[in-house]
Amino acid sequence: MSILIKGGTVVTADQSYQADVYCDEGIIQAIGKDLDVPKDCQIIDADQLLVMPGGIDPHTHMQLPFMGTVASEDFFTGTSAGAAGGTTSIIDFVIPNPQQPLMEAYNQWMEWAEKSATDYSFHVAITWWDDSVYQDMATLVNEHGVNSFKHFMAYKNAIMAEDETLVKSFSRCLELGAMPTVHAENGDLVYHLQKEILAKGIRGPEGHPVSRPPEVEGEAANRAIRIAQALNVPIYAVHVSCEESLEAITRARSEGQRVYGEVLAGHLEIDDSVYRNKDFEFAAAHVMSPPFRPKKHQEALWKGLQSGNLQTTATDHCCFCADQKAAGKDDFSLIPNGTAGIEDRLSIMWDSGVVTGRLTPNEFVAVTSTNAAKIFNIYPQKGSISVGADADIVIWDANGTRTISAKTHHQNVDFNIFEGRTVQGLAVHTLSRGNLVWTEGELRTVKGAGKYIKRPAFSSDFEAVKKQASLHEPTAVNRD
Ligand code: URP
Ligand code: ZN
Ligand code: ZN
Repeated sequence: MSILIKGGTVVTADQSYQADVYCDEGIIQAIGKDLDVPKDCQIIDADQLLVMPGGIDPHTHMQLPFMGTVASEDFFTGTSAGAAGGTTSIIDFVIPNPQQPLMEAYNQWMEWAEKSATDYSFHVAITWWDDSVYQDMATLVNEHGVNSFKHFMAYKNAIMAEDETLVKSFSRCLELGAMPTVHAENGDLVYHLQKEILAKGIRGPEGHPVSRPPEVEGEAANRAIRIAQALNVPIYAVHVSCEESLEAITRARSEGQRVYGEVLAGHLEIDDSVYRNKDFEFAAAHVMSPPFRPKKHQEALWKGLQSGNLQTTATDHCCFCADQKAAGKDDFSLIPNGTAGIEDRLSIMWDSGVVTGRLTPNEFVAVTSTNAAKIFNIYPQKGSISVGADADIVIWDANGTRTISAKTHHQNVDFNIFEGRTVQGLAVHTLSRGNLVWTEGELRTVKGAGKYIKRPAFSSDFEAVKKQASLHEPTAVNRD
């Protein structure tokens, strides 16, 4: 079925203009006025509405096996909830257990993701190292369209990557034209602080942020960035939550290093007072890593986004229900880490970003889809409204309001970190490759309709970095 989106204002990362958008066979076929379209074409009235690229969430964890349990949201429910909020693509994570072959883990996640309602892709985590990992990284890049590898610098005794692994993997990324990404927290330090805090008798969720203070993140971010600098490889830091890691990114960028930073809607909006709430269920529901921070960090993160030192927004959507969080009733370090957000990211970013004047609508598009598409090399197939692009589109009511609640959300989790907040800006219709998956409050997603997005290896960015590196190569010293 073809669709004509009529009478709306197209908003991309570059410009805003009045035009109709015609979609057929999953692709945007034409943009303009008075388009010649088939008689049986479905017409969506977009008068007074904005027509923008569907959101790309570059950081989700659907049905992740983690900390002794499995995230409650699966690939169908999670991508469906995303569609209800205007998000049409996710980049999730394959996370092999230490010693598990990368290809085995990748195949497992690909099977789980078959039920996705909208399109998906994968970063692959490097949680250990040997020759097979080195080889499998090439197979993933060259045959399976994986162009980014994730490194957890935290979660000691589980999936943490030691410095030696970072060095080997970052170097391999450079050879392959893949982007190394990091969860920047010093895992040894977190482990030490957790033991120290528990020994003092602090066992509740209030111990969680104390065990992961901003220095823990700043140190790791700086270390990862400096390793990347020494190896001349670009780097992407996920969920930047505090001034300390933002400073490391800002400094490196001002020195000309190719460093990218992602910020979560949750970290922009929620502060650490949630962990001091006496209700265990409430406080535990907010346990994620890095934790929510004291208020001053939120304004710094907004400035990071406004200045372009942070380029993408994500959710780290990783859902655990109250019965799962209860595993840490007597020990905060055992509370499964993760919070939800895929359904609400766009509304939160519009309400706190555009309505407040921090972001223009075009900047909103950049930080919710286009920049992620560019950084992960799927632009303009994704993250754009242009002829030939996938018809992943959100038709947006900039003035509409809704009140967020776990009672009404579509996420498969019993808590919402934005509970009770009334936001301005909402998805009226969402199209995933030309199919109407959300329309005026009705979810029409289909299990298995989502497709895997292959992301080609980088060439030009890496060539630029290599060229820059050669400027600094030591010249031969004539000792005669
Ligand atoms: O708390 C979090 N963020 N859980 C998901 C795993 C991760 O660190 O990204
Ligand atoms: Zn993380
Ligand atoms: Zn994550």
